[in-house]
Amino acid sequence: MNMLSQSLHTSFPVLSPNLSSRDIVLSQRSFRSVSDFQKAKKEGRKISMLSVYDAIYSRLAVEAGVNTLLVGDSVAMALYGFESTIHATVEMIAPHVEAVRRTCPGIFLVADLPFGSYRKGLKAAMKAVEALARAGASAVKLEGVAGNEKIVSHIVESGIPVMGHLGLTPQHALALGGYKAQGRTEKGASRILEDAKKLEDLGAFSLVLECVSRRLGSQTSSQLSIPVIGIGAGAEADGQVLVAYDILGLSLGRTPRFVRRYLDGRALVLKAFEEFFQQIDRAEYPSEAESYS
Ligand code: KIV
Repeated sequence: MNMLSQSLHTSFPVLSPNLSSRDIVLSQRSFRSVSDFQKAKKEGRKISMLSVYDAIYSRLAVEAGVNTLLVGDSVAMALYGFESTIHATVEMIAPHVEAVRRTCPGIFLVADLPFGSYRKGLKAAMKAVEALARAGASAVKLEGVAGNEKIVSHIVESGIPVMGHLGLTPQHALALGGYKAQGRTEKGASRILEDAKKLEDLGAFSLVLECVSRRLGSQTSSQLSIPVIGIGAGAEADGQVLVAYDILGLSLGRTPRFVRRYLDGRALVLKAFEEFFQQIDRAEYPSEAESYS
């Protein structure tokens, strides 16, 4: 590279698809493949997963040492303002998978198969899987097991790892009567445990277990050889997952009891925005130093 092109490169943004990913460094903690999940379970190491949708938070999560990332269908609620995850589509989720993958090449990245995308037959399901895999997903996650058996086996046989999701499955919130704890009766708890074993038999490499008693979370983890990643399933699960916007205090609406807020993001952002607007009103922004002569 000569002096002129070097100075051009340092003075102007370079239009490279790898620009945003150029110096992300995966750590020892970053999972790269399915075998990292199995290894963690075998060695009794807890698995951390965060649901993220964009370049900024995925990068910060990896820098902070998260094991694995999920682009969840919760994106429909957190970023698009919908009331439920039913509004998520492959077209909505795929660009977020691309953004996270561009930022964090190499990390094991799970993408949610959205509502409806795997209930219209194998061909439609594989089209959705293909779109998410091409966008950069290392695996897909789907909710429930009844009626999904053939699809799970087919996806697994096609070479794409499948993560299950049982307990409170938000895509079924209408049928479940809302967002409430599942498996409260003996029959309900046995059904979840049976479904979990079925998913393992079908070839799922892991599963998310949402909003069940600590006891059921513990039983499921100990009776399965694949890791169980809890969200409101107690401390004995093999790992934990939460939505980044929830732990940062940036979500709108009701916060479930299992969410721990590590930041009051809403208050902090509000304060910053207010200060900016007030300083414009008072002509305090921009200063001399922030202006060009
Ligand atoms: O959609 C999502 O973000 C999820 C996690 C909360 C597990 O499914």
